[in-house]
Amino acid sequence: MGITLPAFTPAQNSLWLTLCGRALDSRLPHPFLADTMADEIVSKVGYDLAKFPLLKSKLFDIAMRAKKLDEVARDFIARHPDAVVLDLGAGLDSRVFRVNPPATVDWYDVDFPEIVAIRRQVIPQRANAHGIGADLNDEQWLNQLPSDRPAMIVADGLVPFLTQDGLVSLLTRLTSHFTGGELAFNGYPKLAVWVVKHYPRAFGSIADGVVNPGFDDPLEPERWVPGLKLVEESFPTRTPEAAQLPLGIRLVGSLVSGLLSRSPATFRRVSTTVLRYRF
Ligand SMILES: C[S@@+](CC[C@H](N)C(=O)[O-])C[C@H]1O[C@@H](n2cnc3c(N)ncnc32)[C@H](O)[C@@H]1O
Repeated sequence: MGITLPAFTPAQNSLWLTLCGRALDSRLPHPFLADTMADEIVSKVGYDLAKFPLLKSKLFDIAMRAKKLDEVARDFIARHPDAVVLDLGAGLDSRVFRVNPPATVDWYDVDFPEIVAIRRQVIPQRANAHGIGADLNDEQWLNQLPSDRPAMIVADGLVPFLTQDGLVSLLTRLTSHFTGGELAFNGYPKLAVWVVKHYPRAFGSIADGVVNPGFDDPLEPERWVPGLKLVEESFPTRTPEAAQLPLGIRLVGSLVSGLLSRSPATFRRVSTTVLRYRF
Protein backbone atom coordinates (compact mmCIF):
# COMPACT_ATOMS: atom_id res chain seq x y z
CA MET A 1 0.00 0.00 0.00
CA GLY A 2 1.05 3.67 -0.12
CA ILE A 3 0.22 6.99 -1.73
CA THR A 4 1.95 8.93 -4.46
CA LEU A 5 4.11 11.62 -2.91
CA PRO A 6 5.44 14.77 -4.55
CA ALA A 7 9.18 15.53 -4.38
CA PHE A 8 9.95 16.93 -0.94
CA THR A 9 12.38 19.73 -0.10
CA PRO A 10 15.00 18.94 2.58
CA ALA A 11 12.95 20.86 5.19
CA GLN A 12 9.83 18.88 4.28
CA ASN A 13 11.80 15.63 4.39
CA SER A 14 12.49 16.28 8.06
CA LEU A 15 8.90 15.34 8.90
CA TRP A 16 9.76 11.67 8.25
CA LEU A 17 12.38 11.70 10.98
CA THR A 18 9.91 12.75 13.68
CA LEU A 19 6.97 10.74 12.30
CA CYS A 20 9.05 7.56 12.00
CA GLY A 21 10.54 8.20 15.45
CA ARG A 22 7.07 8.29 17.00
CA ALA A 23 6.03 5.22 14.97
CA LEU A 24 9.05 3.22 16.16
CA ASP A 25 8.49 4.37 19.73
CA SER A 26 4.92 3.03 19.59
CA ARG A 27 6.31 -0.42 18.77
CA LEU A 28 8.47 -0.56 21.92
CA PRO A 29 7.25 -2.91 24.69
CA HIS A 30 7.07 0.19 26.95
CA PRO A 31 6.71 3.19 24.63
CA PHE A 32 7.47 6.72 25.86
CA LEU A 33 4.67 8.36 23.82
CA ALA A 34 2.65 5.39 22.48
CA ASP A 35 1.44 7.23 19.37
CA THR A 36 0.03 4.26 17.44
CA MET A 37 -1.54 6.63 14.90
CA ALA A 38 1.98 7.62 13.80
CA ASP A 39 2.64 3.99 12.88
CA GLU A 40 -0.70 3.80 11.00
CA ILE A 41 0.23 6.95 9.05
CA VAL A 42 3.65 5.51 8.11
CA SER A 43 1.86 2.38 6.80
CA LYS A 44 -0.73 4.40 4.88
CA VAL A 45 1.98 6.47 3.20
CA GLY A 46 4.13 3.40 2.61
CA TYR A 47 7.27 5.04 3.97
CA ASP A 48 10.33 2.88 4.63
CA LEU A 49 11.56 3.33 8.21
CA ALA A 50 14.94 1.89 7.21
CA LYS A 51 15.74 5.21 5.49
CA PHE A 52 16.88 6.48 8.91
CA PRO A 53 19.41 3.89 10.07
CA LEU A 54 20.23 5.75 13.30
CA LEU A 55 16.62 6.53 14.25
CA LYS A 56 16.65 4.24 17.31
CA SER A 57 19.16 6.52 19.01
CA LYS A 58 16.79 9.48 18.63
CA LEU A 59 13.53 7.81 19.74
CA PHE A 60 13.67 9.06 23.31
CA ASP A 61 14.23 12.71 22.33
CA ILE A 62 11.58 12.67 19.59
CA ALA A 63 8.96 10.94 21.74
CA MET A 64 9.64 12.89 24.92
CA ARG A 65 9.63 16.34 23.38
CA ALA A 66 6.32 15.50 21.65
CA LYS A 67 4.97 14.26 24.98
CA LYS A 68 6.02 17.46 26.75
CA LEU A 69 4.50 19.68 24.05
CA ASP A 70 1.28 17.64 24.29
CA GLU A 71 1.23 18.22 28.06
CA VAL A 72 1.81 21.96 27.62
CA ALA A 73 -1.10 22.18 25.13
CA ARG A 74 -3.39 20.09 27.38
CA ASP A 75 -2.58 22.24 30.38
CA PHE A 76 -3.25 25.47 28.45
CA ILE A 77 -6.56 24.13 27.15
CA ALA A 78 -7.60 23.13 30.69
CA ARG A 79 -7.04 26.78 31.73
CA HIS A 80 -8.54 28.22 28.50
CA PRO A 81 -11.31 25.99 27.10
CA ASP A 82 -12.00 28.64 24.42
CA ALA A 83 -8.42 28.47 23.14
CA VAL A 84 -7.12 28.31 19.61
CA VAL A 85 -4.16 25.94 19.22
CA LEU A 86 -1.63 26.31 16.41
CA ASP A 87 0.76 23.48 15.56
CA LEU A 88 3.35 25.17 13.34
CA GLY A 89 5.25 22.95 10.92
CA ALA A 90 2.85 20.16 11.87
CA GLY A 91 4.18 17.74 9.24
CA LEU A 92 2.23 14.48 9.52
CA ASP A 93 1.90 14.71 13.28
CA SER A 94 -1.57 13.87 14.63
CA ARG A 95 -1.03 15.74 17.91
CA VAL A 96 -4.69 16.84 18.00
CA PHE A 97 -5.70 13.20 18.55
CA ARG A 98 -3.18 12.75 21.37
CA VAL A 99 -4.21 15.98 23.11
CA ASN A 100 -7.90 15.36 22.40
CA PRO A 101 -9.21 18.90 23.03
CA PRO A 102 -12.89 19.58 23.74
CA ALA A 103 -15.14 20.89 20.95
CA THR A 104 -14.77 24.44 22.30
CA VAL A 105 -11.16 24.54 21.02
CA ASP A 106 -10.21 25.32 17.43
CA TRP A 107 -7.02 23.58 16.33
CA TYR A 108 -4.90 24.67 13.36
CA ASP A 109 -2.17 22.50 11.81
CA VAL A 110 0.03 24.69 9.61
CA ASP A 111 2.56 23.42 7.08
CA PHE A 112 3.35 23.85 3.37
CA PRO A 113 0.29 23.31 1.10
CA GLU A 114 1.65 20.02 -0.31
CA ILE A 115 2.14 18.62 3.22
CA VAL A 116 -1.35 19.68 4.32
CA ALA A 117 -2.73 17.96 1.19
CA ILE A 118 -1.03 14.71 2.28
CA ARG A 119 -2.34 15.16 5.83
CA ARG A 120 -5.87 15.18 4.39
CA GLN A 121 -5.25 11.79 2.79
CA VAL A 122 -3.67 10.00 5.74
CA ILE A 123 -4.91 11.63 8.96
CA PRO A 124 -8.57 11.22 9.92
CA GLN A 125 -10.74 14.34 9.91
CA ARG A 126 -11.72 15.75 13.26
CA ALA A 127 -14.30 18.40 14.18
CA ASN A 128 -12.73 21.83 14.82
CA ALA A 129 -9.32 20.74 13.47
CA HIS A 130 -8.24 22.76 10.45
CA GLY A 131 -5.30 22.34 8.09
CA ILE A 132 -3.70 25.54 6.81
CA GLY A 133 -1.44 25.09 3.80
CA ALA A 134 1.04 27.97 3.84
CA ASP A 135 4.68 28.93 4.00
CA LEU A 136 5.11 30.27 7.53
CA ASN A 137 7.30 33.03 6.11
CA ASP A 138 4.27 34.43 4.27
CA GLU A 139 2.45 37.17 6.11
CA GLN A 140 -1.11 36.42 5.00
CA TRP A 141 -2.03 33.01 6.47
CA LEU A 142 -2.41 34.33 10.02
CA ASN A 143 -5.19 36.73 8.99
CA GLN A 144 -7.69 33.86 8.65
CA LEU A 145 -7.33 32.97 12.35
CA PRO A 146 -9.39 34.54 15.14
CA SER A 147 -7.27 36.98 17.14
CA ASP A 148 -9.42 37.50 20.23
CA ARG A 149 -9.07 34.05 21.83
CA PRO A 150 -6.23 32.73 24.02
CA ALA A 151 -3.64 31.11 21.74
CA MET A 152 -1.46 28.08 22.41
CA ILE A 153 1.25 27.87 19.76
CA VAL A 154 3.44 24.77 19.54
CA ALA A 155 6.22 24.05 17.08
CA ASP A 156 7.89 20.65 17.23
CA GLY A 157 11.05 20.46 15.13
CA LEU A 158 10.37 23.66 13.14
CA VAL A 159 13.02 26.14 14.31
CA PRO A 160 16.06 24.79 12.37
CA PHE A 161 14.22 25.31 9.08
CA LEU A 162 13.55 29.03 9.52
CA THR A 163 16.24 31.65 9.00
CA GLN A 164 16.91 33.76 12.06
CA ASP A 165 15.14 36.76 10.46
CA GLY A 166 12.26 34.50 9.42
CA LEU A 167 11.93 33.08 12.94
CA VAL A 168 11.95 36.48 14.64
CA SER A 169 9.49 37.88 12.08
CA LEU A 170 7.14 34.90 12.58
CA LEU A 171 7.25 35.18 16.38
CA THR A 172 6.66 38.92 16.16
CA ARG A 173 3.63 38.47 13.89
CA LEU A 174 2.18 35.73 16.12
CA THR A 175 2.52 37.72 19.33
CA SER A 176 1.04 40.81 17.65
CA HIS A 177 -1.88 38.94 16.11
CA PHE A 178 -3.16 37.32 19.31
CA THR A 179 -4.15 39.23 22.43
CA GLY A 180 -2.27 36.71 24.58
CA GLY A 181 -1.20 33.12 24.98
CA GLU A 182 1.75 30.78 25.15
CA LEU A 183 4.39 29.58 22.76
CA ALA A 184 6.29 26.30 23.18
CA PHE A 185 8.94 24.65 21.06
CA ASN A 186 11.99 22.47 21.40
CA GLY A 187 15.19 24.46 21.72
CA TYR A 188 18.04 24.06 19.26
CA PRO A 189 21.47 24.49 20.79
CA LYS A 190 24.14 25.55 18.31
CA LEU A 191 25.84 22.20 18.85
CA ALA A 192 22.73 20.33 17.64
CA VAL A 193 22.77 22.33 14.41
CA TRP A 194 26.48 21.58 14.00
CA VAL A 195 25.83 17.84 14.47
CA VAL A 196 23.05 17.80 11.83
CA LYS A 197 25.33 19.57 9.36
CA HIS A 198 28.30 17.28 9.99
CA TYR A 199 26.66 13.83 10.22
CA PRO A 200 24.74 13.44 6.95
CA ARG A 201 24.52 9.64 7.44
CA ALA A 202 22.13 10.20 10.35
CA PHE A 203 20.08 12.99 8.81
CA GLY A 204 20.27 12.51 5.02
CA SER A 205 19.25 15.49 2.89
CA ILE A 206 17.56 17.15 5.90
CA ALA A 207 20.85 18.88 6.73
CA ASP A 208 20.50 21.00 3.57
CA GLY A 209 17.25 22.48 4.92
CA VAL A 210 18.77 23.60 8.23
CA VAL A 211 19.20 27.38 7.97
CA ASN A 212 18.89 28.54 11.59
CA PRO A 213 22.12 28.93 13.61
CA GLY A 214 20.45 27.67 16.82
CA PHE A 215 20.67 29.35 20.23
CA ASP A 216 21.94 28.26 23.64
CA ASP A 217 20.34 30.78 25.98
CA PRO A 218 16.57 30.22 26.47
CA LEU A 219 16.24 33.90 27.41
CA GLU A 220 17.41 34.96 23.93
CA PRO A 221 13.90 34.91 22.36
CA GLU A 222 12.83 37.46 25.02
CA ARG A 223 15.35 39.84 23.47
CA TRP A 224 14.16 39.13 19.91
CA VAL A 225 10.48 39.68 20.62
CA PRO A 226 9.34 42.21 23.25
CA GLY A 227 6.56 40.74 25.37
CA LEU A 228 7.80 37.13 25.32
CA LYS A 229 8.56 35.80 28.80
CA LEU A 230 10.20 32.44 29.46
CA VAL A 231 8.03 30.51 31.94
CA GLU A 232 9.43 26.97 31.71
CA GLU A 233 12.48 25.14 30.48
CA SER A 234 12.25 21.36 30.68
CA PHE A 235 14.78 18.63 30.00
CA PRO A 236 13.45 15.22 28.84
CA THR A 237 16.57 13.58 30.29
CA ARG A 238 15.44 14.71 33.74
CA THR A 239 12.01 13.05 33.57
CA PRO A 240 11.08 9.76 35.28
CA GLU A 241 10.83 8.16 31.82
CA ALA A 242 14.61 8.56 31.41
CA ALA A 243 14.94 5.67 33.90
CA GLN A 244 13.62 3.37 31.14
CA LEU A 245 16.54 4.14 28.84
CA PRO A 246 19.04 1.31 28.30
CA LEU A 247 21.66 1.10 31.07
CA GLY A 248 24.57 2.26 28.87
CA ILE A 249 22.75 5.41 27.78
CA ARG A 250 21.67 6.12 31.37
CA LEU A 251 25.23 5.78 32.64
CA VAL A 252 26.58 8.16 30.01
CA GLY A 253 23.60 10.48 30.68
CA SER A 254 24.15 10.59 34.44
CA LEU A 255 27.88 11.07 33.97
CA VAL A 256 27.26 14.01 31.64
CA SER A 257 24.51 15.41 33.95
CA GLY A 258 26.78 15.01 36.97
CA LEU A 259 29.66 16.78 35.27
CA LEU A 260 27.45 19.55 33.98
CA SER A 261 24.99 19.95 36.85
CA ARG A 262 26.94 22.91 38.23
CA SER A 263 26.73 24.64 34.88
CA PRO A 264 23.18 24.84 33.50
CA ALA A 265 24.48 26.91 30.58
CA THR A 266 26.76 24.07 29.50
CA PHE A 267 24.06 21.43 30.11
CA ARG A 268 21.74 23.31 27.73
CA ARG A 269 24.33 23.19 24.99
CA VAL A 270 24.25 19.39 24.88
CA SER A 271 20.69 18.57 25.93
CA THR A 272 17.26 18.56 24.30
CA THR A 273 15.01 21.16 25.93
CA VAL A 274 11.39 22.19 25.60
CA LEU A 275 10.90 25.91 26.12
CA ARG A 276 7.62 27.58 27.06
CA TYR A 277 7.02 31.32 26.84
CA ARG A 278 4.06 33.54 27.74
CA PHE A 279 3.08 36.62 25.76
C1 LIG B 1 11.07 18.22 11.74
S1 LIG B 1 9.57 18.42 10.84
C2 LIG B 1 8.46 18.33 12.20
C3 LIG B 1 7.07 17.95 11.79
C4 LIG B 1 6.12 17.76 12.96
N1 LIG B 1 6.06 18.92 13.81
C5 LIG B 1 6.51 16.55 13.76
O1 LIG B 1 6.88 16.71 14.93
O2 LIG B 1 6.42 15.45 13.22
C6 LIG B 1 9.54 20.16 10.41
C7 LIG B 1 8.29 20.57 9.67
O3 LIG B 1 8.32 22.00 9.49
C8 LIG B 1 7.77 22.27 8.21
N2 LIG B 1 8.27 23.58 7.77
C9 LIG B 1 9.57 23.97 7.69
N3 LIG B 1 9.64 25.23 7.21
C10 LIG B 1 8.35 25.64 7.01
C11 LIG B 1 7.79 26.84 6.50
N4 LIG B 1 8.53 27.88 6.12
N5 LIG B 1 6.45 26.90 6.38
C12 LIG B 1 5.67 25.84 6.74
N6 LIG B 1 6.16 24.69 7.24
C13 LIG B 1 7.49 24.58 7.36
C14 LIG B 1 8.26 21.13 7.33
O4 LIG B 1 7.50 21.00 6.16
C15 LIG B 1 8.13 19.96 8.29
O5 LIG B 1 6.88 19.35 8.19
